[in-house]
This record gives sequence, structure tokens and C-alpha cells, in this order.
Amino acid sequence: MIAPDSTAASASAPTVRKAVVPAAGLGTRFLPATKATPKEMLPVVDKPAIQYVVEEAAAAGLDDILMVTGRHKRAIEDHFDHAFELEQALATKGDTVRLDAVRDPARLADIHHIRQGDPLGLGHAVLCARHHVGNQPFAVLLGDDLIDPRETLLSRMLEVRERYRGSVVALMEVDPAQIHLYGCAAVHPTGEEGVVRVTGLVEKPAAGTAPSRYAVIGRYVLDPAVFEVLAHTPPGRSGEIQLTDALQGLAAAGTVHGVVFTGLRYDTGDKADYLRTVVRLACARPDLGPEFTGWLKEFVSGLEDGGTAVGQGHRAA
Ligand code: G1P
Repeated sequence: MIAPDSTAASASAPTVRKAVVPAAGLGTRFLPATKATPKEMLPVVDKPAIQYVVEEAAAAGLDDILMVTGRHKRAIEDHFDHAFELEQALATKGDTVRLDAVRDPARLADIHHIRQGDPLGLGHAVLCARHHVGNQPFAVLLGDDLIDPRETLLSRMLEVRERYRGSVVALMEVDPAQIHLYGCAAVHPTGEEGVVRVTGLVEKPAAGTAPSRYAVIGRYVLDPAVFEVLAHTPPGRSGEIQLTDALQGLAAAGTVHGVVFTGLRYDTGDKADYLRTVVRLACARPDLGPEFTGWLKEFVSGLEDGGTAVGQGHRAA
């Protein structure tokens, strides 16, 4: 019998096994909802936003996930743990569907938590993962960026990292009027469709100074070399240690590539986009979609007819 030994990796085993999910932000944009509830726990249909992120990592084969949390984030730990009494109550009732829904988060991966302590920025949050990650490449997934579950962006990034080595960031072309909200990448073609070499990075460039329309969206596959650079990265924009600034150091050495994403991405950190996310994902759900979509069409046509649709909310079953 062959013992399951992670050191005896087969040729097809992915090199990247670990993911880091920074989740220490205060969520001020969603106050008062986030006064006592972490923003990562806000529901998107019927799952907290962070569960989609963990499911995405697990779907890409990452089975070790480190959450970098802060104070008031206990609900995240509880969500990815067993809920003994709840599970027993559902088991006694024979409600296997809900029992699975309750158990699933804890079964997705081996989930660890550490606290950032001082909120010194995204770069600092990633640096907090250094000891856990060790000297191996790893993924970083930001909770505010939700990639549609039907997309395979992270798998593509892992595959690009295998071939190009170094670090890989996800890029998306955005309206130039929006680029100041993101890290922005100067890029050079590689000759491969959808893959670029990143020649420079700037965090949230001031109007008119962005080197391109390529925004860094919250998915990264990082070489462990980033830790040493982060350890020496001074505070940048907003007085925080920026991951973008550390990656700029690596990009200057020619070791950062970008995967250009053209699929569905939602920014659940923004109120209007959060609402769009809930609607889009609800429409795509086989159990809710048909009925909800029917109601939505009626609602929208009511709005177009002069706003009478507002009342439909009260009529809905
Ligand atoms: C962070 C990063 C930024 C990136 C963005 C993607 O910014 O610092 O480079 O473009 O996530 O969502 P934040 O939105 O946390 O301010």
C-alpha cells in the first residue's frame, strides 16, 4: 500500500498547494451591516462571500488555506468549523440537504487562521503568511473580488506559473476612469494569447498617470521571493505596506507575468456591484433562478412603465 505522503508528489501534482486569503479589513463601506459582522460574511444569495473564494481555491486544487484575519472576525473561524449542535439537530430531523450545506465549508480544505494584529496593509497581511507558507509558491485571493464560479481563472494562473515560474497576477482591462481604484500594470506581450509580461506596477495611480488600462484584480500566484521584498517594502499609498509595491520590485527583475481575464468578476466590496452579484448569481441558480428571473423581468418592465414595480416587492410570495 502506498502511504499518502505529500513529499512524494507525483509528476502531475500541482506545485502550488497553499492559498492565503486576507480578511482583516474593517468593511467600513458596508456599515452598519459590518458593525458586528465581518464584511466577508455578508451573504451572496445564501453563502457568505468568503465561501465562494474558498470554493474557488479548492476547485483549483489548493487544499491548504490560510485566512489572515483581525479582531471581530470570529464568525469566519466558526463558519469554516464544525457546528456540532446544529449538525446534530439537522441529522436528527433527517434534513440531509441542510446538513451538507452546514458541513461543506469545513470540508473544502484544510483551513487555518492567523491574525494580522496591526492593520498595516495588504502587503503586510501577505507577509504575515510567511511562516505558514514557507519557501513555496502560493496563491493569494482577495475576498472583495468574486470570480464567477463558472470561470477557471485561478487554474489558468497556476498553469502559467508552472511554465513561466516567478509570480503571476490576474489583470482585467477597465475603463480608464476606473483605473485609479486598482493596482495598474504596464505590460509587454509574450506572444501567447492572454498572457503578458508585467514590466511595472503602480498602486492606484492618480488620474492621467496610469501606464495602461490593465487593473490588477484580486488573484495572485506568488513566488516566495515576494516575502523578502515585502519585509523591506516601506509604507506606500494610504500609508500602508502595498503588495503592488513589492510586486513592482519583482516586475522590474522580469519575473512577473499577467493573465488577462475577460470573464465575470464582481466587486462585492462595492454596494452597487454587491447587489449586481447577488442578482446575477441568484439568476444562475437552478433552484432559484427560473422563478427569480421571472419576477425580475416583471419588476424591470414595471420600472420601465413608470415605477409601479416598486409595489411588486410586497406582492411577491
Ligand atoms: C487591492 C490591491 C489593488 C488591487 C485591488 C483589487 O486594493 O491593493 O492593487 O487592484 O485590491 O481588488 P483594495 O481594493 O483592497 O483597496
